[in-house]
Amino acid sequence: MQIRFLGHAAVHLTTAKAAIYIDPFLTGNPLAPAGAADLPCDFILLSHYHSDHLGDTVALAKRHKAAVLTTNEIAVELAGQGVEAVGMHIGGHKEFPFGQLKLVLAQHGSGISGGLAAGFVVSADGKKIYFAGDTALYSDMKLIRQLWGPIDVALLPIGSHFTMDAKDAQVAVGWIDPTYVIPIHYDTFPPIATDAASFKRSVESTGRSQVVLLAPGSTFDL
Ligand code: NI
Ligand code: MN
Repeated sequence: MQIRFLGHAAVHLTTAKAAIYIDPFLTGNPLAPAGAADLPCDFILLSHYHSDHLGDTVALAKRHKAAVLTTNEIAVELAGQGVEAVGMHIGGHKEFPFGQLKLVLAQHGSGISGGLAAGFVVSADGKKIYFAGDTALYSDMKLIRQLWGPIDVALLPIGSHFTMDAKDAQVAVGWIDPTYVIPIHYDTFPPIATDAASFKRSVESTGRSQVVLLAPGSTFDL
């Protein structure tokens, strides 16, 4: 599996059986690399409806005839815009051609009336990836490893202001205990400027998880 970071919280996964965008905020994302919107796309995972996550979802879904996998209220909204969407909800999981998708809690607004924000646990190619989305630190993150782990890669926000900061994210890393951590949702805009190198040093000083700092456009092969 290959994980390509597209800046902010936008990620592209290439699994053996599918190409997947997660939260494809590309247009207007100051960190999005050239060609970020031109990658293959079979599915789109959308954690919530804030503009810095929704981004190019509708345009990509229509261009590629790709299904959007998200929470139910957002799926209904997208269906109303002519997009194929699969509405799931927190705690549920479902098999797709690429593997299994599980929706987990994210302590954050959804950006849509009555909705909830979500995080994702993706199981594909014998690996497990936890994409936290936008979230505060919350103690039920302990369940992610306990119930659905072990986690190979955790993508965690560290930018504060709208999500947990690097200090809280380090607590999350201790609970999730992933092999690798990829920090997201930082340095895109001044309010979320963060010292990611310091986060990497702090986490790695525990001798457990390894932090992979991905420059936008670069990839991590798992
Ligand atoms: Ni948000
Ligand atoms: Mn956000």
